[in-house]
Amino acid sequence: MKQLLLVVLTALVFSQTASAQKKIWDETEAQKQERMQWWTDARFGMFIHWGLYAQAARHEWVKKNERISDEDYQKYFEIFNPDLFDPADWACKAKAAGMKYAVITTKHHEGFNMFDSEFTDYKVTNTPYGKDIIKEWVDAFRAEGLGIGFYYSLIDWHHPEYTIDRVHPMSAKTQEEYDELNKDRDMSIYRDYLKNQVREILTNYGKIDILWLDYSFPGKFGKGREDWGSVDLMKMVRELQPGILVNDRADLKDYAGGWDFTTPEQFKVQKWPEEDGVKIPWETCQTFSGSWGYFRDEYTWKDNKQLLVLLIESVSKGGNLLLNVGPTARGTFDYRADKALAEMGEWMKYNSRSIYGCTQAPENFEVPANTLLTYNPETNRLYVHLLDYPLKNFLMRDYGDKIKYAQFLHDASEIKIGKPYGHWVQQETGENDVNLLLPVNKPNVEIPVIEIFLK
Ligand code: GLC
Repeated sequence: MKQLLLVVLTALVFSQTASAQKKIWDETEAQKQERMQWWTDARFGMFIHWGLYAQAARHEWVKKNERISDEDYQKYFEIFNPDLFDPADWACKAKAAGMKYAVITTKHHEGFNMFDSEFTDYKVTNTPYGKDIIKEWVDAFRAEGLGIGFYYSLIDWHHPEYTIDRVHPMSAKTQEEYDELNKDRDMSIYRDYLKNQVREILTNYGKIDILWLDYSFPGKFGKGREDWGSVDLMKMVRELQPGILVNDRADLKDYAGGWDFTTPEQFKVQKWPEEDGVKIPWETCQTFSGSWGYFRDEYTWKDNKQLLVLLIESVSKGGNLLLNVGPTARGTFDYRADKALAEMGEWMKYNSRSIYGCTQAPENFEVPANTLLTYNPETNRLYVHLLDYPLKNFLMRDYGDKIKYAQFLHDASEIKIGKPYGHWVQQETGENDVNLLLPVNKPNVEIPVIEIFLK
């Protein structure tokens, strides 16, 4: 018995020290929620993937996909000169689309730095463009009141000490091949470089709201937290920018303070993501057309309705949408991106009240067919997004004791509430069901929204 007690006690102490070690910083759940509040309310941000790959114009992974050598990739560095870059114009477009924050690639996997760095020559200030793009970008986006986010690639296909792995352009097949390729490479030198650079971007540009590290791929010929020095890195990040929000790709999922939100990529979640049965903050990142960097010949662009549904559906499941633009090497947005942003902005101008500050509706509200619900807990209003416009009568089951008033959101016109009527209907409906009487013609809005003032 005594022995058993000892074993249990040791296990307890052990697990406690283990969990104490697995902490990057101290914060209560309430403090975390408060730190993330602006982002949770914002719901909609712009991702920007921009680098040398914009010149190849065929995917930001072009160096890997075509196994291009450093020598052959060098031509992009030598001519990089986005002469039409006007960050104030970008910021204006993001804001007009209804976005509240933006995240830009300071360095993507290709290893090229869009910012001025002490630690490398492979940077924008050494190209014909000659200026610190990140500085110009931050100034312009901040001036529009947008949240400032930095994407930084953990992966680096240019640094000479970065060891070759399975996603590297020089990837191999066997252990022997990797050993040979990596015999003169020292990952610890890259690890310092990475830390130094993250320190630079979090020191030289004022308050940074989001850090987006990308990405870990542990396992055979892969890389994870040991390779990046993630624990150390994240401690520094929290020290330098205590208010910052960090994504979940540094392989620190089991560390308190190792991440703030999860990032389903190009993927629509079925329900609000959970961890150990607890709903967690999440943001889906999505492209207009498939690739993140500018891709001239890609034609799989999502249409306005698909993009709006992406946004609304994310909010209806308690999440955010980070929607990507891949600017051209001249520094402009593709005309299709401009069009998509403008159309979303048109909808947001009238309907953003169903997005900002909103979340998943409480479970006791039944979701009518072909709709998405969002809910604002502050104002106690429910938003019914009509994905397929109904014919006049819109039945809401079990809402009789819940609705005070209903209107269209875009024009604040009253929607009359009645009882289900007609002979058929009576047989199919219950006491507490109500019928909203909609106009026959679909309002001139891509996805009309009913705003319900709840009792
Ligand atoms: C992936 C890709 C990358 C892109 C990112 C955005 O990890 O490697 O090209 O930047 O996703 O989420």
